[in-house]
Amino acid sequence: MLSSILFSGVLLLATALADCSREMLKNATDAYISAQSSGHSTAMATSLSPNISYTENEKPVDIKTGVLTRSLKIDLNRTIHDTIACGTWTELIVTDPTHPYVIQTRMLFNDSKITTMESIVTQKGDWAFNATGYLYWDSMEKWDPIPAEKRDTRAVIQAAGDAYFDRFDNINVTVPFGTPCARLEGGAYTGANNLTANTCYLGLPSTTKVTNRRYIVDETMGVVSMFLGFPGLDRSQGMAPMPDGHTFRVEGGKIKYIHTVSSCVQAGCGVNGTGPPSM
Ligand SMILES: *[C@@H]1O[C@H](CO)[C@@H](O)[C@H](O)[C@H]1NC(C)=O
Ligand SMILES: *[C@@H]1O[C@H](CO)[C@@H](O)[C@H](O)[C@H]1NC(C)=O
Ligand SMILES: *[C@@H]1O[C@H](CO)[C@@H](O)[C@H](O)[C@H]1NC(C)=O
Ligand SMILES: *[C@@H]1O[C@H](CO)[C@@H](O)[C@H](O)[C@H]1NC(C)=O
Ligand SMILES: *[C@@H]1O[C@H](CO)[C@@H](O)[C@H](O)[C@H]1NC(C)=O
Ligand SMILES: *[C@@H]1O[C@H](CO)[C@@H](O)[C@H](O)[C@H]1NC(C)=O
Ligand SMILES: *[C@@H]1O[C@H](CO)[C@@H](O)[C@H](O)[C@H]1NC(C)=O
Ligand SMILES: *[C@@H]1O[C@H](CO)[C@@H](O)[C@H](O)[C@H]1NC(C)=O
Repeated sequence: MLSSILFSGVLLLATALADCSREMLKNATDAYISAQSSGHSTAMATSLSPNISYTENEKPVDIKTGVLTRSLKIDLNRTIHDTIACGTWTELIVTDPTHPYVIQTRMLFNDSKITTMESIVTQKGDWAFNATGYLYWDSMEKWDPIPAEKRDTRAVIQAAGDAYFDRFDNINVTVPFGTPCARLEGGAYTGANNLTANTCYLGLPSTTKVTNRRYIVDETMGVVSMFLGFPGLDRSQGMAPMPDGHTFRVEGGKIKYIHTVSSCVQAGCGVNGTGPPSM
């Protein structure tokens, strides 16, 4: 009796692990990156749920006609894997001058099948877009796995990202920025003049309530990725929340790097060249 309860417990655990192993997630993100390189979304067909919800910049798109059908020369890719939420986040930088992109994609899995796939696809006209700049600064950063004894907990990593956005509508929130700390925004880099300083705090909003935070966390990489709605980002859209991704690399509880992608509805986000550069 007892042994059969134990046995079924072990079976359950084994099933849960088999359902969302790092290896399964890694195979899926490898397939995604190679599908985007070749432009053949069919390379992922076996891992897509028949029910998949696929969006680009928060709009439902047919995966067979979206950006995945373009063969892109990817200059840099980064991925994190979340075996608890059973999801992944990937950053792709394409500097090909004929059509540069910076794309961030999050995927959620059930039973080893991708049930949700959402991409923020940024290009010319999006917030501070400069793929060459993204690649240049990104390549200088170190995003190595965190040694096991130095890892923050999942809660600490997520709290660092949450503090950043909690501060957007509460001036009293202290954000755990480290030194150095730099934000890469579309391609513009706060650390451009001093790579060893904390340049993440150059003023933040205090009355902006971001909406719909969606998390992917990887303790082995010290990273939380948050997709969210950013109200007021595109001035031509009033306070409608815009599709946005912020990814935080956290070391010792402190934010070291922030990578953002923000999609505009109108090219230039309605700031007429008076805001951050949008090339
Ligand atoms: C991952 O891919 C490798 C190489 O194709 C394969 O041997 C392995 O079984 C896959 N693992 C999972 C969990 O899908
Ligand atoms: C597909 O979606 C339907 C309706 O939302 C749901 O009943 C079903 O369980 C889903 N199937 C899978 C494999 O997730
Ligand atoms: C993704 O990046 C890794 C190194 O981080 C590299 O080995 C791999 O070739 C890249 N994949 C593509 C398709 O560019
Ligand atoms: C996962 O898929 C199974 C069918 O394979 C379905 O019964 C279940 O509802 C799904 N779970 C979620 C959270 O969608
Ligand atoms: C893009 O970034 C690169 C690297 O920092 C820089 O040399 C270039 O001037 C930037 N381009 C624009 C149009 O701002
Ligand atoms: C911030 O703190 C000040 C001083 O304690 C307080 O007056 C103010 O209401 C606080 N603001 C918010 C948004 O909590
Ligand atoms: C860069 O920042 C570091 C750390 O704040 C500081 O010690 C250093 O003086 C700065 N260098 C320059 C050139 O401003
Ligand atoms: C930007 O320019 C357009 C057309 O010239 C104008 O309608 C709009 O009010 C301007 N927006 C801002 C924020 O200046």
